[in-house]
Amino acid sequence: MKLSPIIAGTMNWGAWGAKLSARQIADLIESAVEAGVHTFDHADIYGGYTTEQDFGTAFAASQVEREEAIFITKCGIRYPSPESPHAVKHYDYSKEHIRRSLENSLRHLKTDYIDVFLLHRPSPLLDPKEAVETLEKLKAQGKIRHWGVSNFTVSQLHLIGQEITPEWNQIACSITHTAPLLDGTLDHHQTHGIGTMAWSPLGSYFKSQDEVRGRLEPVIQRLLKKYDCTTECLLLAWLHRHPARIIPVVGTTRGDRLQSMASAHEIPLEQEDWFALTEASWGHKVP
Ligand SMILES: NC(=O)c1ccc[n+]([C@@H]2O[C@H](COP(=O)([O-])OP(=O)(O)OC[C@H]3O[C@@H](n4cnc5c(N)ncnc54)[C@H](OP(=O)(O)O)[C@@H]3O)[C@@H](O)[C@H]2O)c1
Repeated sequence: MKLSPIIAGTMNWGAWGAKLSARQIADLIESAVEAGVHTFDHADIYGGYTTEQDFGTAFAASQVEREEAIFITKCGIRYPSPESPHAVKHYDYSKEHIRRSLENSLRHLKTDYIDVFLLHRPSPLLDPKEAVETLEKLKAQGKIRHWGVSNFTVSQLHLIGQEITPEWNQIACSITHTAPLLDGTLDHHQTHGIGTMAWSPLGSYFKSQDEVRGRLEPVIQRLLKKYDCTTECLLLAWLHRHPARIIPVVGTTRGDRLQSMASAHEIPLEQEDWFALTEASWGHKVP
């Protein structure tokens, strides 16, 4: 299984964001696949448990065959909503909930299998043995092909790794969230062969007019001329340049942006330019 160079994140395609129609979602799926972006990231909770279903309906109506695409989804967060009535948002990695959540995702996405199934967020109450045994059984049954985790720290990776090393860890990582470069997470991924997916790969750049953006902007403007690309592609190129082979999970709801970002991994970002961006983000030179 080879994931595409970027992954299309669906969190904001439906009720939590752009509220795209079934036809618009099908168009977005088709333009993504046309550009080589055949991997789609979901979670059971997106859109308050509605976006997987919106996607599943649109995917069935699209021109894309199931075997051409890779579906990632996540389980474990129990989010109060009409579909999941709880008083308290919490995490649940019991074997019953993992199985139930997977069955719901399969039904909503209208598929027999999930390519990559992730434990969405680490829980203090996670029993690694129970969770891993359940995931391995689901794998043996062919209902999931691979599994991994998301937002796990190095110590949490060690804990679950006592059972089996997860294949993937999906973490927040970007030019404005560089902690994984320094806290050992990316080193651990490389040491143990854990694949890295980066969510919010553009960080806060387009979301906040803060001083980090103020420092990044002139450096980005200079580099856009040199590399002849868009800002979002340059920010992705900064991630692609890291030796952990980071795969960005992009959240755009626009086909044109998705198509242009699909080739960001081809931008030959020079080492000195990588450090110029990093220095601007940190607000100081490297020691
Ligand atoms: N594992 C986890 O815990 C976790 C947590 C959060 C998210 N995720 C996953 O990560 C995915 C991506 O997260 P994200 O949405 O934060 O990612 P992102 O790709 O960093 O940000 C996407 C946002 O940037 C905007 N954008 C892109 N280019 C722009 C430009 N040139 N000018 C202005 N705005 C621009 C997009 O707007 P347009 O739509 O207009 O392009 C969209 O609102 C989600 O869909 C989800 O699948 C996972």
